[in-house]
Amino acid sequence: MKSYTYVEKSGKNFKPTATAQEVSFAKKDIYAKADKNRIAFWEDLAKEGIDWIEPWENGKAYQQKGNSFAWFKGGKLNLCYNAVDRHLNKPEKSAIVFVPELMHEKKIVISYKELFKMVNNAAAMLKYNGVKKGDVVSIYLPMIPETLAFMLACVRIGAIHGVVFSAFSPDALRTRIKDAGAKVLITSDIYYRRGKKESLKKKANKATRGLRIKKIIIPRAKVGKFLNQDHFNYIQPEVMDAEDLAFILYTSGTTGKPKGVMHTTGGYAVSTYWSAKYIFNMQEGETIWCTADIGWVTGHTYACYGPLLNGATTVLFEGMLDYPTPARYLQIINDNDVSIFYTAPTALRLFAQHGNKYPNKYKLNSLKILGSVGEPIDEKTWLWYYTNIGKKRCPVIDTYWQTETGTIVICSPPGIGPFIPSYAGKAFPGIDYEIADEKGKKLPLEKKGLLVQVPPFSPSLIRGVWGDPKRYKTYFIGKYYLAGDNAFKDAQGNIRILGRSDDVIKVAGHRLSTAEMENAIEGLLGVVEAAVVSKSDALRGKVPIAFVKSRWPMKEEKIVGIVNKKIGPIAKPAKVYFVKDLPKTRSGKIMRRVLKALLANEDPGNIMTLVNPESVKDIGEMLKSPPSPPKK
Ligand code: WT7
Repeated sequence: MKSYTYVEKSGKNFKPTATAQEVSFAKKDIYAKADKNRIAFWEDLAKEGIDWIEPWENGKAYQQKGNSFAWFKGGKLNLCYNAVDRHLNKPEKSAIVFVPELMHEKKIVISYKELFKMVNNAAAMLKYNGVKKGDVVSIYLPMIPETLAFMLACVRIGAIHGVVFSAFSPDALRTRIKDAGAKVLITSDIYYRRGKKESLKKKANKATRGLRIKKIIIPRAKVGKFLNQDHFNYIQPEVMDAEDLAFILYTSGTTGKPKGVMHTTGGYAVSTYWSAKYIFNMQEGETIWCTADIGWVTGHTYACYGPLLNGATTVLFEGMLDYPTPARYLQIINDNDVSIFYTAPTALRLFAQHGNKYPNKYKLNSLKILGSVGEPIDEKTWLWYYTNIGKKRCPVIDTYWQTETGTIVICSPPGIGPFIPSYAGKAFPGIDYEIADEKGKKLPLEKKGLLVQVPPFSPSLIRGVWGDPKRYKTYFIGKYYLAGDNAFKDAQGNIRILGRSDDVIKVAGHRLSTAEMENAIEGLLGVVEAAVVSKSDALRGKVPIAFVKSRWPMKEEKIVGIVNKKIGPIAKPAKVYFVKDLPKTRSGKIMRRVLKALLANEDPGNIMTLVNPESVKDIGEMLKSPPSPPKK
């Protein structure tokens, strides 16, 4: 395979080569075009990229009243039709390549025609179980083709899917099923993790004890065959309004309760199709491998809907990127001619531990574009990625977005650049981001502050929090949408993301709520109170650290265990400190900022306003004393 060079050095930074500019869908002039009239820009994209059953009313593509806004309202479409049926003119084209974790199992390639059958069968199964338009279906599945088929089947019949990450605990699944009021749960008997069988069914049974919910269980042994049968009943795609819900997805906020982020059909379809096309240059027949689990928004948008809307091929890998050897991910790129590789800095830091030992064994000529997502990517990791995986040919596109934005909103498109390590880039064409202060006043360039989106809001931005309209309002500061991140913008409009501005932490790219962990810990008998804060970690970006005040001596394992049980293994505190007292303000608020500073060995700042300044000294000394040797 011949390889092309898509990026070249330009001073300290990187820019697209002439080839890259030529082959890219998004050209330099796109920003000026979009800025002329952002609504008209999106309207044109909507007409060009998506098949509509009926158009929206002329002149009413965007409507806003207070914090409520709508895109393409009155327009009718079906997301599944756009992702599957409309590719049936090329029925043999590959839609999904499923790579099982176990090396001796063969990969399964699913064509668009087969996916069409699978989706119709899944839709028939849902209907048989009484699922109707507007019902919520919970999906608790590993990375198998049936997962995508059921998601697509939901949107085909107008049901709302709520996918729950398969590593979440039964307690976490139960909370989400109950909050969503799901009618049906789809799960599998087992899946493989590091070569071992994990029972999902067992966890699902525990989660649903006493609940009235029907279950569809996919036998792992029938992966690729369970829905893929020659006989199938065609299920007519439901005619959906652009503003009808497509799915909800739970994410962590600043309270103990996860929130169901609501996404609608039309805006999501348009933004997903075009972001995949413009940011990854996704072409029909090309293969993208987005390594994110389907339980996260990244999996929804760039492992499922983005590739399928564009008629591309998506790789689904069941297992861990470094199992059974640290070369596994390279092998998968190589064996499947992956042209777009999209992963998280935490995975890259893991790969980079081995230096160039493994990547040097592979040419990786098929690669064109590398993406990064989920947390800021540091310069060292960026350069490692660029050099060893991209072989200095492929741009590293840092993509900033959120469960709430549905699609990438800040990045440097591959044909435009510049690619600046540690900068996420410019707001996507047609979207405007600014930096504001705590009062919602716009700040000048180069000033650090809160990242906010300026209306007209992006088509796939969150429309509501499931069952909690009050909480939705907390997303807005004045007329802006508040992202929850700190950032600054340079004179060229390039944005650098500095991390969360609230009590949300990103552990190995996973978004976790410190309040949720604290709730879990405080539920234990004997715990008076707890504070969870983040600490920097070389591999995982941040890790949670728990400070616990208890009535009697307790074991660290007990605290770690309850977080594991209530949330899942990803949230387990890396360390638990038992303290006499937690630093508090006079109004009783725990000063997490102080704890964070102490952990980072930084000056905790002014502590005179605390009711118990001595607690700061105590904790500081405790952190300085040598840690006890790790237990074997
Ligand atoms: C939060 C959203 C983006 C989809 C997957 C995560 C952080 C995300 C970047 C980036 C710096 C990033 C932010 C954001 N984040 N991408 N490229 N650079 N930070 O979605 O779980 O909703 O998390 O992830 O803090 O707010 P999410």
